[in-house]
Amino acid sequence: MAQKDLYLPFLALSIIACCLMNLQTVLSSSSRMRNSTDDISDDKCPPQPHPLGMCRSRVAAYGYPCEEYHVTTEDGYILSLKRIPYGLSGATEMTRTPVLLFHGLLVDGFCWVLSTPKQSLGFILADGGFDVWIANSRGTESSRRHTTLSPQDPAFWDWTWDQLADYDLPAVLEFVYNRTGGMKVHYVGHSLGTLIILAAFSENRLTDIVRSAALLCPIAYLNSMESRLILLATRIFLAETIHMLGYHEFNPVGPVAKEVLGKVCVDPEVDCYDLFSAVAGPDCCLNTSTTCIFLQHGPQSSSIKNMIHMSQLVRKETIRKYDYGSEKENTKRYNQTRPPTYNLSSIPSHVPLFLTHGGQDFLGDVADTRHLLRTLLSQHDSDDIEVLYMPDYAHGDFIMGYNAPQLIYKPMVEFFKRH
Ligand SMILES: *[C@@H]1O[C@H](CO)[C@@H](O)[C@H](O)[C@H]1NC(C)=O
Ligand SMILES: *[C@@H]1O[C@H](CO)[C@@H](O)[C@H](O)[C@H]1NC(C)=O
Ligand SMILES: *[C@@H]1O[C@H](CO)[C@@H](O)[C@H](O)[C@H]1NC(C)=O
Ligand SMILES: *[C@@H]1O[C@H](CO)[C@@H](O)[C@H](O)[C@H]1NC(C)=O
Ligand SMILES: *[C@@H]1O[C@H](CO)[C@@H](O)[C@H](O)[C@H]1NC(C)=O
Repeated sequence: MAQKDLYLPFLALSIIACCLMNLQTVLSSSSRMRNSTDDISDDKCPPQPHPLGMCRSRVAAYGYPCEEYHVTTEDGYILSLKRIPYGLSGATEMTRTPVLLFHGLLVDGFCWVLSTPKQSLGFILADGGFDVWIANSRGTESSRRHTTLSPQDPAFWDWTWDQLADYDLPAVLEFVYNRTGGMKVHYVGHSLGTLIILAAFSENRLTDIVRSAALLCPIAYLNSMESRLILLATRIFLAETIHMLGYHEFNPVGPVAKEVLGKVCVDPEVDCYDLFSAVAGPDCCLNTSTTCIFLQHGPQSSSIKNMIHMSQLVRKETIRKYDYGSEKENTKRYNQTRPPTYNLSSIPSHVPLFLTHGGQDFLGDVADTRHLLRTLLSQHDSDDIEVLYMPDYAHGDFIMGYNAPQLIYKPMVEFFKRH
């Protein structure tokens, strides 16, 4: 297949990629797009991989302790799990409640420590008296090992968020629970990190070891999504097409995607800045140094199959397991012709939930989040669910916004302390 034929599919896939983690900033480094003082020019923000990993390059650098563990899932993936056991005040006698942070799609655990200790949730929780654990799902930079497979094997990429909910999430949660002597764990998920815990809860799993869950721009129902570009990509079955071409790993900054984007963004007809805020929603509160570190670490791989599963969510009103597309294949996996549904109404009401969503977020959009809220609120007592609506926030603001510590993390920590 000639590269030229891949041009359109890759362009559109890259757009989907950008949707769940905000990549507009990647493109704003191209000088023609935006000339505000916020611009990140190539010389100010050179690509800089972190060969030393998160602990040494971001956490220890600020004087915080950081430990790394490896957790093997039941299906053989070896996941890197990081821990900031305490904050700058040092190891005291006090008992620290564990908190597990689970990142969203196309990013990894770096997203919790992107900025200074006063700005980033990972540090804020450690300084706030918590024992902080940071997950890295399969396929991301530090979790690309498997007991028998290598990332070059197509089988390594044969998974969707069903498997994140079935294997990655329980593996790391149980590890933290065991390691901290059986203390129930607070959970914080961003974006896809919220969907997997809701999926597990809806099957009545893990509810006995989670103390409470904070959901930052929850993604569950995607059926009302407003992003027209994603809808278009979904409608033409783009991810499916790429899968059929024999691609399995979806790397948003892989050489092909990069080249395509590079070509498109120098085209005078295309305004990349608008293109990308049209996909994810315009972030209000990102600040240059933080987005720069985000760029330097770079977006992370997922599987193409996972992208297909995401687009199935956009097409259907219900949240279902991956649809193999034929009754025969579905029966083989699920013993029924259609994929099983995750019934969010059956989420047990005894797990306290803190949920925050943004008015500018085209992905975790307001209509879909209201749908989710109606479902959850009908079960929970008002004491056990807290909802925080941020009218100006889009997807990236929740983890990188300069005012998130005050507006989001503070009430979240208070919620944790009450539960
Ligand atoms: C760049 O900044 C100038 C001066 O502030 C402004 O007039 C111009 O419209 C801006 N251009 C773009 C593309 O935003
Ligand atoms: C946690 O401990 C239980 C009981 O000892 C054990 O069955 C389980 O495999 C452990 N899980 C992990 C992830 O270590
Ligand atoms: C981010 O921007 C805010 C507001 O401009 C500023 O107060 C803060 O110091 C910045 N944070 C970093 C890490 O640069
Ligand atoms: C498959 O479904 C049929 C009918 O629904 C049931 O009788 C059978 O036990 C199921 N088999 C398995 C392996 O679950
Ligand atoms: C979902 O769960 C709720 C509560 O357990 C139940 O009332 C409802 O019938 C279930 N819906 C489906 C489609 O199974």
